[in-house]
Amino acid sequence: MHQWINELPKAELHLHLEGSLEPELLFALAERNKIALPWADVDSLRSAYAFNNLQEFLDLYYQGANVLRTEQDFYDLTWAYLLKCKEQGVVHTEPFFDPQTHTDRGIPFEVVLRGIQQALVDGEKQLGIGYGLILSFLRHLPEEEAFKTLEQAMPFRDAFVAVGLDSSEMGFPPRLFERVFAKARSEGLLTVAHAGEEGPPEYIWEALDLLKIERIDHGVRAIEDERLMQRIIDEQIPLTVCPLSNTKLCVFDDMRQHNILQMLERGVKVTVNSDDPAYFGGYVAENFIALHDSLGMTREQAQRLAQNSMDARLVR
Ligand code: ADE
Ligand code: ZN
Repeated sequence: MHQWINELPKAELHLHLEGSLEPELLFALAERNKIALPWADVDSLRSAYAFNNLQEFLDLYYQGANVLRTEQDFYDLTWAYLLKCKEQGVVHTEPFFDPQTHTDRGIPFEVVLRGIQQALVDGEKQLGIGYGLILSFLRHLPEEEAFKTLEQAMPFRDAFVAVGLDSSEMGFPPRLFERVFAKARSEGLLTVAHAGEEGPPEYIWEALDLLKIERIDHGVRAIEDERLMQRIIDEQIPLTVCPLSNTKLCVFDDMRQHNILQMLERGVKVTVNSDDPAYFGGYVAENFIALHDSLGMTREQAQRLAQNSMDARLVR
């Protein structure tokens, strides 16, 4: 099954580059940049990867990102992820990066972007992996900060295909970012947003109606609202679902409770993604394997999920 999954051509549409920072690279970058770490070694860092909710994960994820300092660091991070894509049959990726995580630490926007972008360009040339980069705003920060980030990004407008919205969901509804998303759209950028990961279906409605998103990141709580389900099915709005993430962050107690195949069979355009693979125990292929092992996903279902990911690309 593993080999068959790896050979299935697929797109990854929900991946945080900062969440692909493996402990080994994190330690190597800390050494290169002479940063002291609170963990003794790679194994003790890995053993800290046990989370009860999204916030517990985010606290560690932002701490981990602190080792990323130079353009080369961002290049190495992105390149390591692209090599994984190559290994697993990911022929196209639309990753997120969180500029505010870095600019708030004094790293210039340009340093972050140039490192990531050069790796993506090299990945397309040398590995044949297509891409579209998504600039994601941190929703726990005020909209004013998102406006500043968008302004910093505008000299590099052509480097992005879309803006997104991530970080702590509860208490930070999409409506808080209506104006900055409108501004991004007026610049010709597409929009996506995390919604319905921990937050209620109402947040998904807001993301669709106010932020005018093309895809819903996660969206697994849509199943609680039948009218919303009908809309998502009728309009074939893609959901970028991340099964291992959802179980690691206790959105579902167990993979056997995950609703992705139920949604697939109802005609929802669901896709399989890894979210933060270094933290959640696997890349796209491991997510497919988990669906096979725990939910009995068939090859035909895997093919439909992979085809959905190709259909739901923003860049073709
Ligand atoms: N940032 C990185 N991973 C995230 C997730 N799963 N939800 C919200 N913000 C994130
Ligand atoms: Zn995410």
